[in-house]
Amino acid sequence: MPDGTGRFQGKSAAGRRIGADKNYMADAHHIVFANEKGGTGKSTTAVHVAIALAARGAKVACIDLDNRQRTLYRYLENRRETIRRRNIEIPTPDFDVFEHDSLARLERLIDSYHENHHFLLFDTPGRDDKYARFVTTRANTLVTPINDSFVDFDLIGQVDPESFKVKRLSFYAELIWEARKERAKSDGVTIDWIVVRNRLQNMEARNQQRMSDAIAELSKRIGFRSLPGLNERVIYRELFPSGLTLIDKGHLGQLATAHIVARQELRELVTGLALPVNHTDHHHNANGLAESLL
Ligand SMILES: Nc1ncnc2c1ncn2[C@@H]1O[C@H](COP(=O)(O)OP(=O)(O)OP(=O)(O)O)[C@@H](O)[C@H]1O
Ligand SMILES: [Mg+2]
Repeated sequence: MPDGTGRFQGKSAAGRRIGADKNYMADAHHIVFANEKGGTGKSTTAVHVAIALAARGAKVACIDLDNRQRTLYRYLENRRETIRRRNIEIPTPDFDVFEHDSLARLERLIDSYHENHHFLLFDTPGRDDKYARFVTTRANTLVTPINDSFVDFDLIGQVDPESFKVKRLSFYAELIWEARKERAKSDGVTIDWIVVRNRLQNMEARNQQRMSDAIAELSKRIGFRSLPGLNERVIYRELFPSGLTLIDKGHLGQLATAHIVARQELRELVTGLALPVNHTDHHHNANGLAESLL
């Protein structure tokens, strides 16, 4: 249980061997996108972060644990198809879908990717799911996107209807708290938990301020970080059939100013995640892939 004393303590996970018998996490940095609520932007945020990291020269593998919707997998499949159809070269993560067979199968799937990749990204379904819990407790970075709405916030904490002060933590926040405590105890690693605000809109100043206040209060109590994520933009939906992103300059036709701003918001999000730089260091090379790294 969170004790209200503030930040969760522990060592950084970067580059560290985690657990003597679980060496599959020794190399790749695991980023898990999770939120038991549906439609909060997990898949959209995951695909953009994955491609942004690949564009910076990192070797990235995406594992979709939502074997029904497969949004992340489908996005990247569409990307592969666009690459083939247009005969172009654009940075692309490896990707796979987990068919919910067994934990042993999931471990094997992770094993098959961890050694040759800098980052493993997991997208999870918007409901309680044992495989999502499994990867969550083994995350280095846990990203929980929420829409700027108290409906989404309710999954983490409940607010007083008059004052909007946080009344209590939700079940999910306690679950993550427990997972982090377990992890810190077992191998001294802190899961960096980041609440990312998705679909931000400039029009909603008052609601945004209330959300900011509530998130700031909760983040002090349970020690997550919060970051502004992607703004509400049609382009994030439009690009799905082609699997392209705003990063794929030169393949999108004429970019509007809004899209250049959008690229900047994605860059800031990736920077804010504060992922281990050493994973991409040795990719600094003549073709300048990593010039804008972190
Ligand atoms: N920043 C954004 N701007 C515009 N539309 C967005 C944005 N983020 C997400 N969406 C849209 O909102 C819907 C839900 O997003 P997404 O599929 O990423 O959420 P999710 O958390 O993965 O959902 P689920 O829990 O069902 O897996 C999609 O239609 C997506 O295109
Ligand atoms: Mg999804």
